[in-house]
Amino acid sequence: MKLWGGRFTKPTNRLVEEVNASISFDQELAEEDIQGSIAHVTMLGSCGIITPDEAGKITAGLENILAKIRAGEIRFSVEHEDIHMNIEKLLLDEIGPLGGKLHTGRSRNDQVAVDMHLYVRKQTVELVRLLVQLQQVIIEQAEQHMDTILPGYTHLQRAQPVRLAHHLLAYASMFERDIERLIDSYKRVNTCPLGAGALAGTTFPVDRDMVAKHLGFDRIYDNSMDAVSDRDYLVEFLSVCSLIMVHLSRLSEELILWSSEEFNYIVLDDAFCTGSSMMPQKKNPDIPELIRGKTGRVFGHLTALLTTLKALPLTYNKDLQEDKEGVFDTVKTLSSALSLMAPILQTMKVNRVQMRKNAESGFASATDLADYLVNKGMPFREAHEVVGKLVLYCIEQEKQFSDCSLDELKSFSALIEQDLYQKINCEQVVEARKSFGGTAKTQVMQTLKQKKKNINETLTWLSIVY
Ligand code: ARG
Repeated sequence: MKLWGGRFTKPTNRLVEEVNASISFDQELAEEDIQGSIAHVTMLGSCGIITPDEAGKITAGLENILAKIRAGEIRFSVEHEDIHMNIEKLLLDEIGPLGGKLHTGRSRNDQVAVDMHLYVRKQTVELVRLLVQLQQVIIEQAEQHMDTILPGYTHLQRAQPVRLAHHLLAYASMFERDIERLIDSYKRVNTCPLGAGALAGTTFPVDRDMVAKHLGFDRIYDNSMDAVSDRDYLVEFLSVCSLIMVHLSRLSEELILWSSEEFNYIVLDDAFCTGSSMMPQKKNPDIPELIRGKTGRVFGHLTALLTTLKALPLTYNKDLQEDKEGVFDTVKTLSSALSLMAPILQTMKVNRVQMRKNAESGFASATDLADYLVNKGMPFREAHEVVGKLVLYCIEQEKQFSDCSLDELKSFSALIEQDLYQKINCEQVVEARKSFGGTAKTQVMQTLKQKKKNINETLTWLSIVY
């Protein structure tokens, strides 16, 4: 017998049952569903909608069910469609007809909404925690590689030398913005829809604030129709997650390139690589590749949800049941990607010698040579031309700037003096970029200090958040 079977004369078609049911995936919400039900029933008791004794018995029943679920003793059934009705059925079995009072003044529409809010709230906090862990590893590596110099690239061509710390901290900045976005979205996630009923509110004298407070929500939805149909917070969540995946994927791409023999900048730890079934010499960066690869599915979940929502009339429509699998899969994908990226970065070996060698060749100091001429009064555009010609000459002669004699250099511009050699030295080139946010040591140290401060602020947020 279905919990909603009253007006039906025929059993549900078997295939309908399968397509309609969400229990195969929404059992992920079991804890949240019971948490929400306990808050609801406690309020029903306090407001005199049921007696406090009844509320106590229902709560005890729900707690028993939760313990059984945690112990793996419960098998949910497709026949009861979703997690909400499965648990209600379990409650009826547990405490008898009194269990039927749980759903007073509530609909599955506000119930599923509260479950998802609780779930996403928990995951938002968890993702912030994982991002902080990753940040700490990046900071650690940046500290160790303050004086490691590599070429910075544009167009994947050697451009100007930078500190490895500076390069790594660029990712710290990206993940810092991701943390900001999650924390900002938290206020919309932490809004309570319960009490909206099916769509229009309820005839019972419920106390919505009491339920919200019990569940740790900061505020409640001010429109019952919006409360049951809003999935904006899920779109936001998937969009923030998509951006985090973009950042992880870009970082992965660099790890893949850098660990290739062509670059030879890093060696990834054996524990995070795999071999080839055919080629005995191979050590492949599968995990960064998978992080890069899995980025697509997270974008897919975002696009799928936006598409589901775009033409939905108010209020709840069964289409909304499609919001869950993508969110669950995103959480799983992102949590494992973040949990893996931290140790991958922590254990990688950096080939400072190779990085330095590449930074010193390839004319990465060309801009500095032009700036040198500018400081001696030459207009920048002219200096650019002079250095361009010198580069061409060096390529033909198979030389670096520093291999040229002073006379050779002077033949390109009489302004060049002995002091130029010092100016185009790799360290000097890096140190000269003292502008705010540049790669000079003082600037990188400053940024590093600021990042540590920001991490501490996030840790404080984590310690006070619900
Ligand atoms: N399983 C449903 C979902 O995930 C729960 C809400 C069902 N509401 C309804 N009116 N049929 O959306």
